[in-house]
Amino acid sequence: MLDLAIRGGTVVTAADVSRCDVGIREGRVVAFGEAVGEAVETIDAAGLLVLPGGIDSHVHLDQYSGDDVVMADGFETGTRSAAAGGNTCVIPFALQRRGESLRASVEAYHAKAKGKALVDYSFHLIVTDPSPAVLGQELPALVKDGYTSFKVFMTYDDLVLSDRQLLEVFDVARAEGALVMVHAEGYDGIKFMADRLERRGETAPFFHSTSRPELVEREATHRAIAHAELIGIPIMIVHVSGREAIEQIEWARGRGLRIYAETCPQYLMLTADDLKGLNMDMSGAKYVCSPPPRDQASQDAVWRALQNGVFQTFSSDHCPFRYDDPAGKTGPKARTSFRWVPNGIPGVAARLPILFSEGVKKGRISLQQFVALTATNHAKMYGLYPKKGSIAVGYDADIALWDPDKAVTLTQDLMHHGSDYTPYEGLEVTGWPVRTMVRGHTVFVDGAVTGEAGGGSFVARGPSGMI
Ligand code: URP
Ligand code: ZN
Ligand code: ZN
Repeated sequence: MLDLAIRGGTVVTAADVSRCDVGIREGRVVAFGEAVGEAVETIDAAGLLVLPGGIDSHVHLDQYSGDDVVMADGFETGTRSAAAGGNTCVIPFALQRRGESLRASVEAYHAKAKGKALVDYSFHLIVTDPSPAVLGQELPALVKDGYTSFKVFMTYDDLVLSDRQLLEVFDVARAEGALVMVHAEGYDGIKFMADRLERRGETAPFFHSTSRPELVEREATHRAIAHAELIGIPIMIVHVSGREAIEQIEWARGRGLRIYAETCPQYLMLTADDLKGLNMDMSGAKYVCSPPPRDQASQDAVWRALQNGVFQTFSSDHCPFRYDDPAGKTGPKARTSFRWVPNGIPGVAARLPILFSEGVKKGRISLQQFVALTATNHAKMYGLYPKKGSIAVGYDADIALWDPDKAVTLTQDLMHHGSDYTPYEGLEVTGWPVRTMVRGHTVFVDGAVTGEAGGGSFVARGPSGMI
């Protein structure tokens, strides 16, 4: 006898679309076919798509963001928002602060998450201080423990690594078989631009975008690729914003290099003009993220790259701050210059509806591409496969039931996050999650979050980069 049967729906995987039932026992898919037998509970999925739950492999939760700044989501509200957006697993970051042990940082993030999450989660590491002990002992040991991916930054005062440090971290990744995620924006170019803009009195949030033009992303992307080629490793370029970085990635692929890439909803739906707010007021801060949103030509390039396989993953880069809050986007320091506006926007709940509506519904990508970009490739890229990321016998029953025809206007209320705004307010989408299930347990249904804090579990991961 099954615990649960989902009957009459259309199951979509990265490979196939099929009309069949799904049988679930003890949190896993155990049957898949035209008729899966008796079950204690049945869900009628007629007219619905049965999708692998979204895996969002780029979110920031309860991450230290400066002494005067507080991230708007911890593990409870962040994963509540994830569940409301059809996601069943997230991979946030464990940030090493300079001078700290990497192992201690990981333990600290485990403590932050314990008993809080509604969906399953794992951690990438952020390496900011690659000391001999980190490179020689901590990183190798953590990779062996299942932290098989880490992020490095080429910008931000507190996070940036020198080229030599990047090469050292890349070399450990090579030795241990881990995947490095690279934030590719050039530190010095940005600093130079920011200083010059401030001297001119150009300090409104909009000038954040002027200080980080596409060419600083292009240059850093090229440099990261060169470093990866020198060391002989694959890397993942995260949050790629537009045409110029895409050209670098395509060039590298043409040379036979394994350069992976991720993009995010903000690079499809926003442009630099959004940062102007109302007459260059502080409301532009709602859209300040890095890299900044670009222009229509870059949006078109990002769509093309999603269609033709340049991007493996579509993530939210959910990095939420409150707008109307001194510890958020409009704090006293942030009001003096764009330089101090916390970087990042919320998006974990909006990611799937945006890509479904703008991508699948508008005929830009197929249903299977949607599943690959939002779930399967994340699982393959970050060592969650073949446990998560698809619907097949033996997999965790992480499932989103999706109404492909439901028309919804995105509003703050629907996001269920800790931020006080959504950058996508008023956006009309078609297609919406009606039920989200984590290992067979319903955590969100018909607009209500039903999951409980602590229902989500930490997931140890296998090797990353297996795509
Ligand atoms: O602006 C952004 N993206 N903030 C989040 C941190 C990062 O670089 O991913
Ligand atoms: Zn980044
Ligand atoms: Zn990020």
